[in-house]
Amino acid sequence: MNDITSRDYWNKKYDTDEYVYTTVVNRFVKEYCEGLKPGKMIDLAGGEGRNSVYFAELGWQVENIDISNVALTKFLNLAEERGVASKVFANCADATGFESVLTPVDLGVVGYLQIPMDDLADALYCLIDNIRKGGVLFGVWHSLNNIEEGFGGPQDPDVLPSVERIQEMLADEPLTIEVLEVRDGQVQTKDGLKPSKTLVLKAIKK
Ligand SMILES: C[S@@+](CC[C@H](N)C(=O)[O-])C[C@H]1O[C@@H](n2cnc3c(N)ncnc32)[C@H](O)[C@@H]1O
Repeated sequence: MNDITSRDYWNKKYDTDEYVYTTVVNRFVKEYCEGLKPGKMIDLAGGEGRNSVYFAELGWQVENIDISNVALTKFLNLAEERGVASKVFANCADATGFESVLTPVDLGVVGYLQIPMDDLADALYCLIDNIRKGGVLFGVWHSLNNIEEGFGGPQDPDVLPSVERIQEMLADEPLTIEVLEVRDGQVQTKDGLKPSKTLVLKAIKK
């Protein structure tokens, strides 16, 4: 089975001593969120916890919600190593319909949750429901145009959002969208650095 929406797929991928997505915070998460006042946050599909642990180190109380129990065990080990175990919770659940232990939160982050658009919409609606009024939603994805104009990331257009897809998805949500754009980046390949296209979203809950 090679279904990127299944727990088995992710548990197998994470079943290694290495941190598959590194232990370093994603550059876009850092750029857009580092100035926020620490409070409570959900890292949706937070995986092995590179971003969760970053927020915990900044003083946030963090709930990492992910479908992979293997990833969450690695996340808890990383939090222990970094001395922030008391700041974090692991919640093994499906992003499309979860119950948060920290709700309502000041910040909801979703990083590289590349699932079919209907499922992504459900995940974002659930996340938005769990953000307090005035709180922040931040998302980052491999963008749809990364297939043609970038390198790496999923090659299935069904799991790649675009500005238009996210706009349509969020049209009726109680949000003020501050940033929704494709950013240029670079990925390391065997032939050196290549361009990548990354979609970023920052919005405030009304
Ligand atoms: C590409 S990884 C990104 C992990 C993390 N956000 C990061 O940036 O390092 C995608 C994550 O989404 C999780 N995932 C996939 N489908 C999911 C779902 N339906 N519900 C919750 N998590 C899911 C996977 O287990 C995996 O940890």
